[in-house]
Amino acid sequence: MSITPTDVEHEVRSVDIVVSKANEAGDVTYANPIFFKLAGYTQGELLDRPHSIIRHPDMPKIIFKFLWDNLKEGKDVQAFVKNLSKDGGYYWVFAHVRVAKNPDGSFRNYVSTRKAMKSSAREVIEPLYTQLLEAEKSGGMEASLKELESFLESNGASLATFNETMKKLNS
Ligand SMILES: Cc1cc2nc3c(=O)[nH]c(=O)nc-3n(C[C@H](O)[C@H](O)[C@H](O)COP(=O)(O)O)c2cc1C
Repeated sequence: MSITPTDVEHEVRSVDIVVSKANEAGDVTYANPIFFKLAGYTQGELLDRPHSIIRHPDMPKIIFKFLWDNLKEGKDVQAFVKNLSKDGGYYWVFAHVRVAKNPDGSFRNYVSTRKAMKSSAREVIEPLYTQLLEAEKSGGMEASLKELESFLESNGASLATFNETMKKLNS
């Protein structure tokens, strides 16, 4: 299904906590009502389907690469994500994605809890993601990674402190 993105923004309220869970492949195994509402899909349309259904073309690939590289190592990721709704609209969130384990230590699922993005964070992240996308188009993932690293460096951070840097932007 191809969706044409529009400029219509769907509001994520400061009280909203948008939750979903995924299996090892990233398929949606659970989502809460506000997730379905923002994304504009029914349970039947979304469950057991990949999370990338709501991937917005404005999102740079490097952010998802960073997400998956860390999740595969058992590490949490906190990142800003622009999502695409079924109606073509969008919504920004600040996501915290974790790996949940069973009592015996084996993999249980991935859990993402998302909050509203502060407008001050958006002023920084929107131009950064535009820059990352441009770098990706001209020089691929390598160029995009360099751009991300130089952004972090200019904020006194690095890939190792990505989460803290993002959290600070939304605080
Ligand atoms: C728990 C969990 C939640 C995710 N939530 C989102 C999301 O809200 N939006 C999104 O675009 N990708 C999300 N992803 C990442 C997707 O799996 C995927 O990597 C991303 O959409 C990029 O898709 P692509 O690699 O097919 O381009 C999530 C992954 C996990 C494990």
